[in-house]
Amino acid sequence: MRVLSGMRPTGRLHVGHLVGALDNWVRIQNEGNECFYFIADWHALTTNYDDVSKIYEYTIDIIRTFLACGIDPDKSVVFVQSAIKEHAELQLLFSMITPVGWLERVPTYKEIKQQLSYKDLSNLGFLAYPVLQAADILIYKPDGVPVGQDQVYHVELTREIARRFNYLYGQVFPEPKELLSHLPKLPGTDGRKMSKSYGNVILIDTTEDELREKILRMMTDPARKRRSDPGDPEKCPVWDYHKAFGTTDDEKEYIKNGCRTASIGCIDCKKVLLGHMIERLKPIWKRLDELKKNEEYVHRIINEGNEKARAFAIETIKEAREAMNLRF
Ligand code: TRP
Ligand code: SF4
Repeated sequence: MRVLSGMRPTGRLHVGHLVGALDNWVRIQNEGNECFYFIADWHALTTNYDDVSKIYEYTIDIIRTFLACGIDPDKSVVFVQSAIKEHAELQLLFSMITPVGWLERVPTYKEIKQQLSYKDLSNLGFLAYPVLQAADILIYKPDGVPVGQDQVYHVELTREIARRFNYLYGQVFPEPKELLSHLPKLPGTDGRKMSKSYGNVILIDTTEDELREKILRMMTDPARKRRSDPGDPEKCPVWDYHKAFGTTDDEKEYIKNGCRTASIGCIDCKKVLLGHMIERLKPIWKRLDELKKNEEYVHRIINEGNEKARAFAIETIKEAREAMNLRF
């Protein structure tokens, strides 16, 4: 299978990205699929056009984190969207055949506009977000697109655009499927959705001390006000972390019983979790340190990835141009 996915460089990656997306990307890579993983910096501009100061820094930071978390540049093509101008050309071609009504109906269009109501999002680029995403995807003719639930509609629209193109100009694009990870979202340290704007994230690139402090201060089942109050793991965000970070079945039994009977305290429970998180993150921290000392290597990986992606994209854009009778 050929597979493609991307992330916008709007912040540094947190442990929710690790267990919700990156682990899945790495698994797909290691199962021997042909993978393209990229940074959607043009997409970041659709909402962040008014502050471009961090986009470069975040792009490098995220790619470094990809590599530290197991994305292997010998197996996967890692690249930056804006370096591959062919994405923009394909978006332009697709924009001819995409009714504006399709775009206004995209659920995330209205949702994000509401969420960011303090911001002027009447720009064309934001409305056209899914057309660019369709170009990102279809230019690599992938079989699958690993995404979270929030991106499914975008992949559906991508298929609609492919179908319309093929119908009008002849078969060029296959219709890719979304590859849903089905992993529940990891909550933030306050139990709400993990989000930079809530200040409740645990970054992948953190220290053991900082991690310990965040876990020990993390919200628990509010019923457990005192050590002697019983609680319910199902009402506790710490429990979601236990499920995501390799707590064993025996430990889970011990925690469930201990929590419900108040025979263990939340600190005991969190210490078990911390052991697992540190075990998981330590090798990543080590690789991050090495990569930070070797910026040149990261840049080389990006340049090589861009070359490979571009070579592929050029071939597809040739076909698309020919199909549309653009012969110069
Ligand atoms: N819209 C995606 C997100 O916000 C990012 C993205 C851009 C993407 N282009 C893509 C994801 C192509 C998968 C495939 O997460
Ligand atoms: Fe949460 Fe663990 Fe405390 Fe139960 S014991 S409330 S699962 S932190």
